[in-house]
Amino acid sequence: MQGSSNGVTRREALGVLGTSALGLTLIGTTVFADEGRSGRLSQVLPKFTAPSRSILARLLDDPAYSGRIPANAVAELTKNENTAVDKLMLDLLSLAQSYSSAPISNFYVGAIVRGASGDLYTGANIEIPGQCLGFAVHAEQSACSNAYMHEEQAITALAVGGAPCGHCRQFINEMSPDGEILILTPDKPPAKLSSLLPAAFGPSALGMKHGALPVPHTNLSPGGYSGGPEIFHALQAACRSYAPYSSSPSGVAIRTMKGRFHRGSYIENVAFNPSLSPLETALAALIAGGDDYSSISAVGLVEAQGAKISQRPVTEIVLKAIAPSAKFFYSAAPY
Ligand code: THU
Ligand code: ZN
Repeated sequence: MQGSSNGVTRREALGVLGTSALGLTLIGTTVFADEGRSGRLSQVLPKFTAPSRSILARLLDDPAYSGRIPANAVAELTKNENTAVDKLMLDLLSLAQSYSSAPISNFYVGAIVRGASGDLYTGANIEIPGQCLGFAVHAEQSACSNAYMHEEQAITALAVGGAPCGHCRQFINEMSPDGEILILTPDKPPAKLSSLLPAAFGPSALGMKHGALPVPHTNLSPGGYSGGPEIFHALQAACRSYAPYSSSPSGVAIRTMKGRFHRGSYIENVAFNPSLSPLETALAALIAGGDDYSSISAVGLVEAQGAKISQRPVTEIVLKAIAPSAKFFYSAAPY
């Protein structure tokens, strides 16, 4: 992983655009608020050709944009930029990084994941203001969770500005425990995850034959509870959670002021701590989609009735820190 931190705020960071050694710049979502979603493109991708920037602008300005660059757009971009897809992923890191929300470290990290479909997914690190560091989502986790929420069958490659940290290596391994995911970093040959994480502690240690992908489907029934749309979307997310170690599926839906829903499924890890809570996964979706905390109007959480563990306390704490006036809906579904 390679981020950018000069101990400055994101707004001050605009002043140092383009001056960092790796060309990775310090930019955050709020800076672009007045310029439309695609306003960031000329600043973060100055070397891209105008046709490539307009392909990306069309994607980013779609109100349903979710941090996914479809394979057909990827093909056009590689053609326009006269480059291979691995290099394109590295070149797009500054776009992913521009979504970073890191008020504690001011260390802004972006990552790009390639799915088996050929689609690309952006991710950025997310730190929860005022809360414990353990709630942070790393950029690599955020990009993997984005691919997960789009139901990719597998992840084939992940690009990031420098070698991923140990926590991320552990998280990425759960996506594909065969160690075959290619890790792409600038100026180094691609490396299989297995070479960065030898002797991995993988899902088989706790008796599992597979990792998180393809996304499992669980049947959680809504029972007699007739919740609103927050509960409906949260239930759908819970049905797609990966919780083999706790058998406690859960899902979150964030509703924005504009009525958009961002879903987040719980994604566990065999080493427990790198697991992503459903709210963290939903926040990764919210941020990848170009929304921010101030747009959150309501959140729904669904989990399994009588489950071993509950996401409710942590969800309420994090929600209070980022969107204190958002409404919170909860349902424990028969399982
Ligand atoms: N971070 C990442 O996003 N990826 C890594 O591999 C290492 C660190 C983030 C986490 C935290 O928000 C900040 O960088 C400082 O560690
Ligand atoms: Zn990491």
